[in-house]
Amino acid sequence: MVHSSRILGVGMYLPARVVPNTELEQIKSLETSDEWIQQRTGIKSRHYVAHESGTDMAYEASVKALDNANMTADDIDFIIYATLSPDHYFPGNGCLLQDRLLGDRPVGALDVRNQCSGFIYSLTVADSLIKCGQYKNILVVGSEVHSRGLDFSKDGRSVTVLFGDGAGAAIVGPSTEGHQGILGHSLYAEGKHADALWMEYPCNADDFFISHEDLDAGRQYPKMNGRMVFKHATRRMVEVSKEVLEKSGKTVDDIDVVLFHQANLRINQMTASMLKIPEEKMVNTIEWTGNTTAATIPICMCTALNQGKLKENDLVLICGFGAGFTWAASLLYW
Ligand code: ACO
Repeated sequence: MVHSSRILGVGMYLPARVVPNTELEQIKSLETSDEWIQQRTGIKSRHYVAHESGTDMAYEASVKALDNANMTADDIDFIIYATLSPDHYFPGNGCLLQDRLLGDRPVGALDVRNQCSGFIYSLTVADSLIKCGQYKNILVVGSEVHSRGLDFSKDGRSVTVLFGDGAGAAIVGPSTEGHQGILGHSLYAEGKHADALWMEYPCNADDFFISHEDLDAGRQYPKMNGRMVFKHATRRMVEVSKEVLEKSGKTVDDIDVVLFHQANLRINQMTASMLKIPEEKMVNTIEWTGNTTAATIPICMCTALNQGKLKENDLVLICGFGAGFTWAASLLYW
């Protein structure tokens, strides 16, 4: 039995194309403005793919994470892939990444569909599999291509301006002696709010996978009750952060670095102030990434490392909220 697991390396990939708010402003059908987006969300720009798929980006992020961990693909025993924007309806992206990264060496691959909480759910599963001795080194990856599935009309503008494309990956392995690694997790889902943030069609719950009427009504695009999501996000992120701290016998004062999901800067500012977390402990990327859903937390980890804000043995709180509704938090020593 392994005492604890830890993150051994991280990597990220953002497509080369930067899309500033001013470019969205030029899309007449969207009827939006740089001022509105910045004021309500804190976002100034995001990245959009050119020809990349989610798997392409996941591969690039994974190679960097392996390099960061001083490992090669031969060291990976298992893959967990979180995404809400898979390359295909099936098979899952974990299989596609296994092929790209490991070729003729089959390993287990699991797809996780928990949206903005997807990376934390995946990390929890990886931690448990390592602790019980099932696997040694697990690749956990989040990758999202949002830009190809957004509604660039006025109807979709409150959602469309929020999202960006990108990928992030982490190698999770056993903790070395004396290193406490991952301390604990808390995961939640409350499906009664599923339709407050969802992509309804295509679906297998209706008579038609998708009808011409559905397409004309734009039901293939993500829809969100923004105010409701905002309210629930702040409340749940505060609750779950407190819970994971309490379970681990830690307090807010013990935390060195906070990596929140990046959906809206205002959500993170409000949550941090409710938890009394000082600004200097927060790492926000939303200004230049937008919301990259399951890729967000590992992108934040890479950013914190690049900025020199995250050091060995720092106590790190990660927390997210998203569609489902789902919400989750983990506490770990870096
Ligand atoms: N540009 C210009 N105007 C806009 C835009 C836009 N992009 N979007 C909406 N508006 C307009 C609305 O039409 C409305 O106009 P009206 O007053 O004439 O009717 C006005 O702005 C206010 O709209 P609201 O939707 O009430 O704006 P709000 O202040 O709630 O901000 C926002 C919207 C930014 C989306 C906010 O509600 C939010 O951030 N919600 C949470 C997002 C989130 O956390 N998502 C979860 C993660 S996503 C995932 O899990 C997949």
